[in-house]
Amino acid sequence: MNARPRDGLLRALAPAKINRELRVGGRRPDGFHELLSRFASIDLCDELEVEPSDGLDFSITGRPVPAGKDNLVLRAARALSEATGVLPRAKIRLHKRIPVGAGLGGGSSDAAAALRLLRALWAPDLPEAHLRAIAPALGSDVPYFFTGGEADVSGRGEHVEARPDEPLAELLLLIPPFALSTAEVFAEHARQTSGRSRIPEHLEIETSGKFFGPNQLASPVLATQGAMKAYLKSAADAASEAAITGSGSTIVLFGAGAGAETQLEKQHPEASLLRTRTLGRREYEERTRPAGGAQWRSPR
Ligand code: C5P
Repeated sequence: MNARPRDGLLRALAPAKINRELRVGGRRPDGFHELLSRFASIDLCDELEVEPSDGLDFSITGRPVPAGKDNLVLRAARALSEATGVLPRAKIRLHKRIPVGAGLGGGSSDAAAALRLLRALWAPDLPEAHLRAIAPALGSDVPYFFTGGEADVSGRGEHVEARPDEPLAELLLLIPPFALSTAEVFAEHARQTSGRSRIPEHLEIETSGKFFGPNQLASPVLATQGAMKAYLKSAADAASEAAITGSGSTIVLFGAGAGAETQLEKQHPEASLLRTRTLGRREYEERTRPAGGAQWRSPR
């Protein structure tokens, strides 16, 4: 990627998220499920770059993702253009590091980053509240990425309550070589619970002292993709705690022992392993703030 500053070029990082606990209630009249979840940001980031152009141009490097009109970055661009009445003119480049269909919120984080960068280009005076109002229609996880860090997320994902930073946690991601469909996993959850699941008043991690609380999508994930069971068992054997994030397929290990990577590589040579850590809110804000065309600051 070109690191030389160019006129009007803006870039920002789009960090991934994990779910430290995920409770799922019944299906709402709008078809979405009621949630209660603790989100945390991690230091695994996509990179997004925008610059003025005569038309709308979008390209992707890194991990393969469809760049068609349904890509969340382009949907975010069109939504912002419609909301502001500004013609959608920009050259947008996305460098993808966050695996797709992995429960890490990569597409949603890219959408939030695109909204922030394109506002800076098209409508710098647009109030933050107007930008945030566009987010929920793009995807349930998009509102969270306007807060980042440790946060409680509820409703369908549109209610986000920032929480104070927790001590930074070193994590290991075990990423199976397949993606999972969030819609399919939620549909399986609805089948398994016959719509009778309820969300609790409080998250278990508030009092348990553990890093992870229950993920109520874990059982539907295992039913949707049988291979997940072996990955989960290997991860649990290699760390103090291990949990599926979101609707999978990534498994996050907390307190992974020194030999965890060697052991998991041997057991699952087809999977990817990635060391990362949680991000505090200040770090999240620094990484996601649109900046002129200097070098990327600290992507891992
Ligand atoms: O909002 P998003 O496009 O990320 O959601 C993908 C799918 O996941 C939805 O179409 C829906 O089937 C399911 N979902 C849900 N309840 C939520 C979030 C997502 O049922 N709160």
